[in-house]
Amino acid sequence: MEDVIAWLKENGNLKIIDEPLDVELEIPHVAYIEVKKEDSRPLLFTKPINKAKGIEYDMPVLMNIFANREITQKIFGKHPDEVAEGIEELLKLKPPKTLKAKLAMIPKLFSLKNVFPKRLGFRGECQEVVIPKAEVDLDRLPILKTWEEDGGPFITMGQVYTQSLDGTMQNLGMYRLQQYDKHRLGMHWQIHKDASHFFDQYQKAGRKMPVSVAIGGDPLYIWCGQAPMPHGMFEMLLYGFVRNKNAQLVKSVTNDIYIPRDVDVVIEGFVDPEKMEIEGPFGDHTGYYTLKEPFPVMEVETITMKKNPVFAATVVGKPPLEDKYMGWATERVFLPMLKPMAPDLIDYYMPENGVFHNLILAKMQVHYPGHAQQFMHAFWGVGQMSFVKHAVFVGENAPKLEAHEAFSEYVLNRLSKENILITQGIVDHLDHASSRQFVGGKLGIDATMDTEVDAGPESLLNDDELLALCQERSADIKALKQYMTHTKNPVCVIAVEKRESQQQTIAKLADLSEHIKVLVIVDAANNDLDDPYMLVWRVVNNIDAQRDVHLEPFIAVDATNKGGLDGFEREWPGDTFCTKEVLDRLGEKGIINIDETFIRKFGLLPFGNQVKTG
Ligand SMILES: Cc1cc2nc3c(=O)[nH]c(=O)nc-3n(C[C@H](O)[C@H](O)[C@H](O)COP(=O)(O)O)c2cc1C
Repeated sequence: MEDVIAWLKENGNLKIIDEPLDVELEIPHVAYIEVKKEDSRPLLFTKPINKAKGIEYDMPVLMNIFANREITQKIFGKHPDEVAEGIEELLKLKPPKTLKAKLAMIPKLFSLKNVFPKRLGFRGECQEVVIPKAEVDLDRLPILKTWEEDGGPFITMGQVYTQSLDGTMQNLGMYRLQQYDKHRLGMHWQIHKDASHFFDQYQKAGRKMPVSVAIGGDPLYIWCGQAPMPHGMFEMLLYGFVRNKNAQLVKSVTNDIYIPRDVDVVIEGFVDPEKMEIEGPFGDHTGYYTLKEPFPVMEVETITMKKNPVFAATVVGKPPLEDKYMGWATERVFLPMLKPMAPDLIDYYMPENGVFHNLILAKMQVHYPGHAQQFMHAFWGVGQMSFVKHAVFVGENAPKLEAHEAFSEYVLNRLSKENILITQGIVDHLDHASSRQFVGGKLGIDATMDTEVDAGPESLLNDDELLALCQERSADIKALKQYMTHTKNPVCVIAVEKRESQQQTIAKLADLSEHIKVLVIVDAANNDLDDPYMLVWRVVNNIDAQRDVHLEPFIAVDATNKGGLDGFEREWPGDTFCTKEVLDRLGEKGIINIDETFIRKFGLLPFGNQVKTG
């Protein structure tokens, strides 16, 4: 991966866009649309500009590096399952008993020497150009502003390298950085993340914390940055393991942090624990804006770069996006690491429309009553897996986890109030649904039993009949659609124009329990009842199970936006929507070509907006 562009041209069907395009909204919108396509490709924007600031950058912008599964696999150089097999082998390593077994183990142990990063004593290619502090100007980098309501431009694929106060632990984490001005960045390491723990150490000691942020280089660095490695394990070990080649690191110019020699750009500086500043809002990978919040500030000391650097960036928002493919590799590679705490786990899957931590489906062998609950608690208690809000466990005879239709049918045929576990735990920093930030409801469904539940609905009505009955009881109900009516637990989705707490609406529908087994309520605005992909996205994002899942008079899930009517006191964020004028402009130039179906399918614009396309 010496030259990523040349490699992507050869292996990744790289699409080159020479039209001058704005780093504010235009480039991100093109990338956002591209990665939602079935056959999405990496994109190179050769002429990024900033119209508002009057800048023409001399650095191209590379996006959607992880544009699809095939290219992700090529970046790894092997299928992620193969990496997982290697890890599983290591975890199961036992002392060899015979001479033959000892000999067989030698190559394996020998290859382990490649895992450890190598610290080189000379400067790297990433330090060919060194910009001294007095000349530092972050405006020289084509930093993107993705969404109209973003608080500013953000570095979205920054590899943030840090070390513990005593220097014994190194960390690589991918955290976004907001550009405040020419030499300061907002450092968005969330409260549960490793660099935030290091930051606490520096804060207690009253010391400034050195940070080096790398951009570009081998795309595997990027994947390693987001990999949920256990606390204290440097992600570059994983890099060495996957590549079977030591990561080659060089020392930063102004601090002691080591960074890969071949990255494109390095921003060096420090974070002063005394200074916090408002970060955000930012249209996040949940498909919602994360709201303004104080975060530490990085003061830039120097920027170093290759002679001809490329600026790697990503766009986050509503799924599917590039993190779908990164997340797929992560899910595969980390399966063996879950097994020591959940040994009878067969497989797991985090559908992209559950934005990973909002929904996990898992298959296991069941050996005793409560086994699935035991695994739920294990998941909710360990590392970043503990962010998972909703977990569905099935037994070994269940259909494939990725077979959405068959899987849903299997679970609904086994669903009952008795096998739903609702509890509380930590939730992702980005979760907007919990009434209290960081702590919220958890929902587990144990569908591991072989036998189906006995009772289905007493009497099934068609959608029009049921809607009429619902509307007699509440005029707020505007639309209705039933899914999976052939199962024991059909799912009835209603769209409401909300004027009361949905607990009241549910109570009004109580006498319809012979027709309704599972009720899901969404707002009428910006939800399409014919689009189950985005409905799942909305529901698992919007609920806090403790508050919003009710088991009487039937299973009911209130996935509406929360506010005063619900006694919800935090600010409820908005969806990430594209800017219509930008889509129109890109369509007129022929750079994008999308129709109304595409726009509606992925919730690109608030419903009711038309767009001109080329
Ligand atoms: C595109 C992308 C952007 C991300 N942005 C952030 C971020 O701004 N802050 C954060 O804490 N985690 C962010 N993450 C998730 C972290 O990279 C991930 O949790 C990682 O494992 C953290 O590493 P750590 O455990 O070493 O802290 C992002 C992930 C991706 C794929």
